[in-house]
Amino acid sequence: MTTPKRALITGVTGQDGSYLSELLLEQGYEVHGIIRRTSTFNTDRIDHIYEDPHQEGARLFLHYGDLTDGTTLRRVLEAVQPVEIYNLGAQSHVRVSFDCPEYTVDAVGMGTLRILEAIRDYQHRTGIQVRFYQAGSSEMFGLVQEVPQRETTPFYPRSPYACAKVYAHWQTVNYRESYGLFACNGILFNHESPRRGETFVTRKITRALARIVAGQQKKLYMGNLDAKRDWGYAKDYVKAMWLMLQQEAPDDYVVATGETHSIREFLDIAFGYVNLNWQDYVEFDERYLRPAEVDLLIGDPAKAKTQLGWEPSVTFEQLVHLMVEADLKGMGLVPLNGHSVQPVIDTATLRPTVLSSLP
Ligand code: NAP
Ligand code: GDD
Repeated sequence: MTTPKRALITGVTGQDGSYLSELLLEQGYEVHGIIRRTSTFNTDRIDHIYEDPHQEGARLFLHYGDLTDGTTLRRVLEAVQPVEIYNLGAQSHVRVSFDCPEYTVDAVGMGTLRILEAIRDYQHRTGIQVRFYQAGSSEMFGLVQEVPQRETTPFYPRSPYACAKVYAHWQTVNYRESYGLFACNGILFNHESPRRGETFVTRKITRALARIVAGQQKKLYMGNLDAKRDWGYAKDYVKAMWLMLQQEAPDDYVVATGETHSIREFLDIAFGYVNLNWQDYVEFDERYLRPAEVDLLIGDPAKAKTQLGWEPSVTFEQLVHLMVEADLKGMGLVPLNGHSVQPVIDTATLRPTVLSSLP
């Protein structure tokens, strides 16, 4: 019997971590994820693939750790001995990074450096190559210097989060060039799914829509509706991460759909799905604005398509629909023909939630 390839994922409990774990398990890997200690469990996105490690054949293992804790990262690396590391962990909310810049930069920027240093020493000592994927972001293009954005487009970050991602990007390049690490940067444009965090704009909209239809929410408060994003499907995007680490040589790749749409267009399609007019529900609240905004993102995925053979499989409209459908189902609502909706739950006990109001 051959030993399975072993991968280590930071951010395994996140949207991408969960889809990547599924993909790697399907490919026969043994998957190790780093989770943070929290007072309540937040493993919802991976519970369906988790197996009791006492069981023979279990292939998903979790380890406590944190990107701000270099000692533990080294210890986990030594214990797991992975051949691939995917660094997906981050305080990934751009607006929140303005509120908590030091922590964001520590986790996103220094966290990446801590892992790179750990790999450098481990590889030097053992002679075992560890392939490294860094979760870079289209936010690094910020005030865009070229349309569409490609691998050669200069960065112009506009938030603490984006500045930290630029630092992590260049450290990854630097460790590749200085120490010969097999280290790749994915420059991923926005990617969404029913597992998207509830305060990112797409999921905030689809979740609020389901609550409005269920009678649990009357209004949806939002910020800048004019911003444009290149939105794809998260499940497609984790495939690109994996493909990058299967190439002969390490490199950096833009992963995007090549289309851009405004928040208004997202609202049109989402509310239109259940025959509602979003203008009747959406209100402006300035607390959702950012001190500096990224107005337009649109990526050119030509290199990923040619060199990785990667293609997005879901259109913008399909993405909005699949997210709306999932949130309606989550509320116990069944979309009927023509997309009218049949409430199947008792909505009498309505309560506001923290999630409905935090940026
Ligand atoms: P996400 O859903 O916010 O997940 C972030 C993950 O990082 C969670 O597992 C989180 O753990 C973990 N994490 C946060 N702080 C940490 C720390 N200090 N130490 C260790 N782990 C920590 O993000 P995502 O959408 O899956 O994105 C994955 C990565 O891709 C992130 O680095 C993000 O910045 C980047 N990215 C995302 C997009 C996108 O559109 N989704 C685009 C470009 C780049 P908890 O569950 O405990 O919070
Ligand atoms: N979150 C949020 N909430 N965004 C809003 C709102 C609101 O109420 N109203 C308008 N927006 C606008 C934001 O100002 C931004 O222009 C756009 O919606 C998208 O915001 P987010 O969904 O929060 O995503 P993001 O583009 O800032 O960042 C995401 O994508 C990056 C890749 O480009 C995150 O996933 C980052 O981690 C990722 O790197």
